[in-house]
Amino acid sequence: MSYSKPLDGKAGLLMSVDYPMEPFRIKMIEPIQSTTREQRVKLIANAYYNVFNLKAEEILVDLLTDSGTGAMSQEQWSALMLGDESYAGARSYYRLLESVKELTGFELVLPAHQGRGAEKVFFAVMAQPGQYVLGNGHFDTTTGHIDARGSIPVNFIPKTTLDPTFEAPFKGNMDIDAADAFIKEKGKDACALILLTITNNTLGGQPVSMDNIRQTRELADKYGLPFYFDAARMTENAFFIHDRDSEYSSKSIREILLEQMSYADGFIMSAKKDGLSNIGGLITTRDEEIFQPLKEYLILNEGYITYGGLAGRDLDVIAQGLREATDVDYLRYRTGQVAYLGSKMEESGIPMLKPFGGHAVYVDAKTMLPHIDVEEFPAHTFAVELYIEGGVRAVEIGTLLAGRDPKTGKNRIAPLELVRLAIPRRMYTQTHLDHVANSAAKLVDRASSMKGMQITYESEHLRHFTVRLRYK
Ligand code: F0G
Repeated sequence: MSYSKPLDGKAGLLMSVDYPMEPFRIKMIEPIQSTTREQRVKLIANAYYNVFNLKAEEILVDLLTDSGTGAMSQEQWSALMLGDESYAGARSYYRLLESVKELTGFELVLPAHQGRGAEKVFFAVMAQPGQYVLGNGHFDTTTGHIDARGSIPVNFIPKTTLDPTFEAPFKGNMDIDAADAFIKEKGKDACALILLTITNNTLGGQPVSMDNIRQTRELADKYGLPFYFDAARMTENAFFIHDRDSEYSSKSIREILLEQMSYADGFIMSAKKDGLSNIGGLITTRDEEIFQPLKEYLILNEGYITYGGLAGRDLDVIAQGLREATDVDYLRYRTGQVAYLGSKMEESGIPMLKPFGGHAVYVDAKTMLPHIDVEEFPAHTFAVELYIEGGVRAVEIGTLLAGRDPKTGKNRIAPLELVRLAIPRRMYTQTHLDHVANSAAKLVDRASSMKGMQITYESEHLRHFTVRLRYK
């Protein structure tokens, strides 16, 4: 692999303050209700300073997640009308199958209601209690399902990746040597599989290189382990390979996607991301022997194998969305939009995680608010202040999210205190992003006077969803 672009410069890898225009125009609109700063001060207090408690109508620009929040195309809305709601054997399923096969090469395909539904079924079949599931940064629901199965999630993250300022084109890569040493030490039978998440959401929406994918295949073969993808953002990953690896710059996204997927034994996917759908998930494999128990477990948990907990119309929307997500103009605009927001925020003096990811930008709150102790959640303070300032909803990815160690009852101190601003697909314009960046810029001057937060109520599991806080 050779890297084709300079890594220096304020604007990050894409150096793209002017990203390509939206390769679409707007046909239907959803009004945004305005609020004043004074109203938002009250609204967030009434929400116990938890952004999950805010109502959608209380938000001006919602960057909580890129999952299921994007806008559908006219072709997707049309496909929806073709939905076949037959319980078994629906045409919609076969159209989905065709799309997945065409784009990824996998022929054994099961739908699920969303990514975590796919995870539940997948790990029940693929991982035994006590076995390790190796990865490059499992997403939190993935970790949750591995835990729930009684298996053990373990990640091999290069040390440099944990430095938010370290710039590398493929910062989502797995540390192959560390994974190899681990398998050697624990023994092959102690390991269930390798799951590579593309792009790496946990570490900032960072892509995984084709080399790293190939090496993961070699590692899996060396020990006879299955290798699967968590492919939620597989086309964004393919785009980064196209954009950042000169060996792939003349290949189409579809060619790269096919090659990328060819190295794995299958994938699980939340179709709410690169499926450009509001709901849905997928499980694929090449292995007929595994497909059988997957089908059985799917029927028990999600629904019959040709609908997997979705309506027929959802299957058609995903079939169409997967194809649209491979459009290089769309991908250039999308990743450009993310980099645009990141560069604007960085220009106003906000420390950002670099390089900018595929679906989100992340504020390095530990650097921005060094006077706030990590156990007073500096990234959460930033998210609350950003809401008050501009009605923008972002989310803390740090010690608040990490929860408590069940044994000691102490906070698990996260390696980074981040605020994630995830951009829904095809939803917001540059003016919306300017509003976000301008609101964030206003926080810079008063950062030193911001206070930390204190928890007043928390649940045992996934506390960030229901936590109540107040200013310290
Ligand atoms: N895997 C990855 C890499 C994800 O980012 C997500 C969801 C899932 C699995 C689970 O999929 O939500 O359809 O059940 N990520 C969302 C986010 C929630 O905001 O990053 P799901």
